Amino acid sequence: MVRHFLKDTDLNPQEQARVLDLAAAMKANRYGYKPLAGPQTVAVIFDKTSTRTRFSFHAGVAELGGNPLIVNPGEAQLGHKESICDTAQVISRMVSTIVWRTYSQSGLEEMARYSRVPVINALSDDYHPCQILADLLTIREHLGQLAGKTVTYLGDAANNMANSYLLGCATAGMHVRIAGPEGYLPAPAIAQEAQQRAAETGGSVLVTTDMDQALSGADVIITDTWVSMGQEDEKEARTRIFAPYTVDAKAMAQAAPGAIFLHCLPAYRGYEVTADVIDGPQSLVFDEAENRLHAQKALMTFLLVESGLAEDRRTALPSVALTLNEEK
Ligand code: CP
Ligand code: NVA
Repeated sequence: MVRHFLKDTDLNPQEQARVLDLAAAMKANRYGYKPLAGPQTVAVIFDKTSTRTRFSFHAGVAELGGNPLIVNPGEAQLGHKESICDTAQVISRMVSTIVWRTYSQSGLEEMARYSRVPVINALSDDYHPCQILADLLTIREHLGQLAGKTVTYLGDAANNMANSYLLGCATAGMHVRIAGPEGYLPAPAIAQEAQQRAAETGGSVLVTTDMDQALSGADVIITDTWVSMGQEDEKEARTRIFAPYTVDAKAMAQAAPGAIFLHCLPAYRGYEVTADVIDGPQSLVFDEAENRLHAQKALMTFLLVESGLAEDRRTALPSVALTLNEEK
């Protein structure tokens, strides 16, 4: 069965931990593993703009011995002249993985349905699961473990990042707190799915409008832009609505001593976070950005191995990847 990564819960807790282990191994030996030798091509398709996702997938595929094929917004027939179904059937005969940043989650699901190779969500309106893998790697590097740690996300609690923190951090056994204004909280179905995951892993989920409750004693404080891609027309109203949820020094002081600050970037200083916090000693945003590269290299490798599409290239894999199939 071909494995895809369309949202955070597409990896079970054990699989997520294995991907993070693999990412750490690949980070420690950056140019040492070539599972995409051939070179195999990875299509990286953008319907929205990007810096981190574009650079990290391009560099990551090349580092794995593969050939990155970056398709910028509007460059393919997909989306205006050709259906997702036909596109998937054509390109998945030519590439070994399809990475897609787009608007609709159902579009990604359709791509996966008709693809012969793994499909990876590189951000949709609903989820940004690759970013969460990078964040988890960063948290693990700095706090030593994930299970039992408390992560608090403040601001637009109805966006793709909030949804992915709910699912991804609950999968890691963390205590996830999501705080935002009324009307901008996660859909109940997503909070419920996170709660189910948390029940399996020993984590917990709190969705609240109460910023103080969310911040109290947290190990990790996170925010994201108040105006996601596609919401530019709402900028003025959103700036007003989310203003009370700014992460500033006072908010950081409510967290645990030694708490870390994360932001997926791009960041808007003076809006969702003050400059003294994001540029201060608790901020790990550039480690977090770098970890996109390592986490995605591991994810691509994991999906190919688990899909049975990397069998003949096993010698090019780190030992932690070699054990993936056997451990099931
Ligand atoms: N964090 C993130 O996905 O950044 P880009 O939009 O620049 O890819
Ligand atoms: N929520 C943001 C994340 C950017 C990486 C957006 O969708 O624009």
